[in-house]
Amino acid sequence: MKEEILEIPTTLRGFYIETYGCQMNTADSEIISGLLNKNGFSHMEQADNADVIILNTCSIRDNAEQKIHERLKHLRYYKKKNPNVIIGIVGCMAERLRTELIENNNIVDIVVGPDEYRKLPELINEAKEETPGIAVRLSRVETYDDITPLRTNNFFAWISIMRGCDKFCSFCVVPFTRGRERSRSLNSILEEVIQLKESGFKEINLIGQNVNSYRDDKFDFADLMTEVSRVASTMRIRFTTSHPQDMSDKLIETIASHKNLCNYIHLPVQSASNRILQLMNRTYNIEHYYGLVEKIKKQIPDVSFTTDIIVGFPTETDEDHQLTVDFLKEVKYDGAFMFKYSPRENTKAWEMGDSVSSEIKSSRLNQIIEIQNEIASTINSKLIGKTFSVLTEKESSKSTNDWFGRTETNKIVVFEKGNAQRGDLVNVQIIKSNSATLFGRIVE
Ligand code: SAH
Ligand code: SF4
Ligand code: F3S
Repeated sequence: MKEEILEIPTTLRGFYIETYGCQMNTADSEIISGLLNKNGFSHMEQADNADVIILNTCSIRDNAEQKIHERLKHLRYYKKKNPNVIIGIVGCMAERLRTELIENNNIVDIVVGPDEYRKLPELINEAKEETPGIAVRLSRVETYDDITPLRTNNFFAWISIMRGCDKFCSFCVVPFTRGRERSRSLNSILEEVIQLKESGFKEINLIGQNVNSYRDDKFDFADLMTEVSRVASTMRIRFTTSHPQDMSDKLIETIASHKNLCNYIHLPVQSASNRILQLMNRTYNIEHYYGLVEKIKKQIPDVSFTTDIIVGFPTETDEDHQLTVDFLKEVKYDGAFMFKYSPRENTKAWEMGDSVSSEIKSSRLNQIIEIQNEIASTINSKLIGKTFSVLTEKESSKSTNDWFGRTETNKIVVFEKGNAQRGDLVNVQIIKSNSATLFGRIVE
């Protein structure tokens, strides 16, 4: 795709971008930053003196959208201070709400959906001339293959390998906000990986809404992983997210047989009731899912697993919920992201109503959070005394004396800084743990 470099008025330079939602949005913000940078804008760390303020938004649940509405109220202050500041809403909410965002908020100047980021420079310039700009067409081909993301982290990188989703789980807004599934070419991904390796990066995360259905001609996701593992043999390689339907034996064997492919799998189950799974259009049953877990645990013995659960899906009974509770106890996940069902307009489930009351949703959610915390605490307490290789990411939010890092299996480890620097791989022996964090000390 040809890219036009626009002339930027000298008065318009700095942009600030705030990111909400999933890792796809984090990666997209880096693509947007790369694009704007190439077109003469400069990236700013703070909104205060920015000429352009962009919110990269999420629509997955109602509360994700409410957060943006609240943030927009705060942004009025910036607009008041500087009426020329341009406010842009991009991402999934831009796609979902479109003109509504401009009509209901007289401070929003541009609204741009996930497949139209190439138009951002142009729309920003036009918005300066006081025409609100909207670009929300979805594409079947856009992958931003040729755009170099502007990364702010210099040892860890997200690489978006595909966009969109064709699964149409009945509760989910993503196929509507991100459009049809499409994969980037294997060669362009490998080129990016090699470049990152040469720049000293230590870890990459290959991301997509459903990476297991990656395809470039005859190459599938397992082939891509094999190639990435080969060209980046010294780097840690992660991937998210997997859909249970497409988790192939070939992929499990590939992860098991390559040392630098991390032994960590996020495998959303959503519910353990087959009746609910069917209503959710998840296309697998719980027996198939459990079979996968068994197979993975057997082939990758030290694997760590996380999952996503939705409670209170329309018609979910106490019996359905109990199946999920029992399943959590059976599988013993290392972690779980647990949500109350939130009806999304236009999805299939929207038509099923929102039959579970908010009180029941809350009590089911609290119950599984408590159970899962106990399970994770027990798993983590068994790691005390063991030593792990940890990638030092950032300062711990609780103490300036400590680093925050992760094991290969994606466990968070907090440890005293010693001589370690950000980006260093260090051996840390675990001395203490809770449900979410391991605490340790550096050993030689
Ligand atoms: N593509 C990923 C999921 C992306 S959304 C996958 O399939 O694994 C992340 C999680 O948000 C989902 O797994 C689901 O648990 C939750 N979610 C999605 N839509 C939701 C809704 N309408 N209400 C509550 N949770 C939802
Ligand atoms: Fe949504 Fe399902 Fe696609 Fe995940 S796989 S993004 S939950 S439709
Ligand atoms: Fe949210 Fe869009 Fe990601 S809805 S979860 S930002 S794909």
